[in-house]
Amino acid sequence: MMDPQRTDPREDARAADLARRFTEVYGRAPDGVWRAPGRVNLLGEHTDYNDGFVLPFALDRAAMVAVRLRRTGEPGQDTVELASTYAPDGKGLSCERFSLPGLAAGDVGGWGAYPAGVVHVLDGTGEAAVPGFEMLLDSTVPVGAGLSSSHAVEVATIVALNDLLDLGLEPTAMARLTQRAENEFVGAPTGIMDQSASLMGRADGALFLDCRTLESRVVPLPLAEHGLIVLVIDTKVSHSHADGGYAARRASCERGASALGAVSLRDVPSGADLTVLDEETGRRVRHVLTENARVLEAVERLGSGDLHGVGELLSASHASLRDDYEVSCPELDLAVEAAMGAGALGARMTGGGFGGAAIALVPTAEEGRVRDAVQRGFADSGLWAPEIFSVLPSTGARRM
Ligand code: GLA
Repeated sequence: MMDPQRTDPREDARAADLARRFTEVYGRAPDGVWRAPGRVNLLGEHTDYNDGFVLPFALDRAAMVAVRLRRTGEPGQDTVELASTYAPDGKGLSCERFSLPGLAAGDVGGWGAYPAGVVHVLDGTGEAAVPGFEMLLDSTVPVGAGLSSSHAVEVATIVALNDLLDLGLEPTAMARLTQRAENEFVGAPTGIMDQSASLMGRADGALFLDCRTLESRVVPLPLAEHGLIVLVIDTKVSHSHADGGYAARRASCERGASALGAVSLRDVPSGADLTVLDEETGRRVRHVLTENARVLEAVERLGSGDLHGVGELLSASHASLRDDYEVSCPELDLAVEAAMGAGALGARMTGGGFGGAAIALVPTAEEGRVRDAVQRGFADSGLWAPEIFSVLPSTGARRM
């Protein structure tokens, strides 16, 4: 296996370039550059907010931030200035700014809400008195594809502030704080998987995380050794977890757990009688119970080196998300079916659903066939071309 903490020379070059651009934008050098990856979830969907199990991995695509704290007495001590190389019109910088005193949810819109949310929770929980700072963001995580581009920004912000303000926060504490930023400031009622993957991911491994205790273990995922790749198929169907569908699923699970006399669905045994629930709640609960079981099974198979055997679990997960949990969409189903028809060992939607991306576990030799079949499937249905790329498990957030 490769060195799990190895650095990628291309990322080092990106970091150096970002520091240079920061100096051009703000007229002074940054204090440092930090990187936080996006994630794909291999298995364990909509289980995190049910205290369940997940198996995501950190992507080799990451948000990078160059940051400089404003010094005492400097102008703008109470102000945060943000700039991102991702501009909606494709050129220039997208800039945001906010002032620190009295910062409240709703004050900062757009992408600025992610760093602002982190500042807000650090301040609100008494973890840190955050001074003004300048930030330049550059990200290679596709926006809106369900690969946690927003969590990557939050995680990059918190690891930068953790270092610069010497807060000594552990990864699990940073995961919980960024989850609060997302829930309380951004207004998306999401769980803890995405931040955890970004903070604790490792090269060549998936993160097996117990979302109740935040205990985690890296499960080796030596794809290349087994002649496999993971393809991401970004359907380009946009989704937002601040919209109603995600919150409605969460509410169903809470209703189901309480009707079954459990604190959370984690405590409901897999053989529980679900006929006491209404039909829809029963299906939602069944998804969560079977999905937790699939994660445990996948960890076992990976542990015994059976990477191929994980494929069928991915496909079973997709069917469950499509039929029981109803968070897929026609484009995700199409991507999965086309990939399977062309030789993928398994495929599923990844992330919250309602759009975004699917993943497929594919023998390297079949990559071309799978790509062609998916593109053809979309074209034959009169749809746009999806974006298809392979991803590798990468190391979690860190200072460059
Ligand atoms: C989104 C959320 C996660 C998780 C997934 C579904 O990605 O941010 O917390 O709930 O959906 O598994």
